[in-house]
Amino acid sequence: MKIIAHRGASGYAPENTEASILEGLKRGCDGFEVDVQLTKDNKVVVFHDWSLGRTSNGNGFLKDQTLAELKILDIGIWFSKEFKGEKVLTLEELLGIIPKEKLLNIEIKVRHGEVNQIEEKVVEILEKKSRINSNIIISSFDHRIIKRIKEIKSEIQVGLLITAGLLDITNYTSNFDLYSVHCGGEFISKKNVDELKKNNIKTYAWTVNTVEEAKILDSFGIDGIITNYPDIFK
Ligand code: G3P
Ligand code: MG
Repeated sequence: MKIIAHRGASGYAPENTEASILEGLKRGCDGFEVDVQLTKDNKVVVFHDWSLGRTSNGNGFLKDQTLAELKILDIGIWFSKEFKGEKVLTLEELLGIIPKEKLLNIEIKVRHGEVNQIEEKVVEILEKKSRINSNIIISSFDHRIIKRIKEIKSEIQVGLLITAGLLDITNYTSNFDLYSVHCGGEFISKKNVDELKKNNIKTYAWTVNTVEEAKILDSFGIDGIITNYPDIFK
């Protein structure tokens, strides 16, 4: 079972920052999950929330700020004084920090059905940085984006994010050419995992932060967990 650090090792360092990636490396995770969004000037940056207030000293919506404006913000101090000075990373910068041998799950965030071509930009960056390989998985709750990624570049591995118990997971997933399904842990059953395995689709669970839950999911045969505390499962 792979151990993937959720937004980096976000239990130990501010999420989606260089510090959370370095913390994950130090704590021996197999890979990383990060969230990406598009800025006002169409740059792909690593950030979870739609609005800036919770994890930065800024205000308003990320989509209304340019990269230069976002770079002025501090995205570490909200977590602890120790992380003062962490800056918003671009996806390109992130790729420079994460070793190629580690899994990298890039979760594309869009909201309110916005169509902003973020998926094209993510693919462009991965191509430019020669990072289209078996360690990259792009996921999204917006399944239209998953479809489009495969249309743009069929070699890219994609994962469907779901946070529900589907009536017929085999039927639904047959709409896509999937590498994986990433499901809220509480909705995963052994039946789901078995059905997905039959179709050669991996199952990842999030956000799994206790050994007890990890053991249950492991007994179902899942392929990996996405966790804020990657070191506690070793
Ligand atoms: O990719 C798994 C998980 O990160 C999805 O939810 O809200 O933490 O991005 P969220
Ligand atoms: Mg995420």
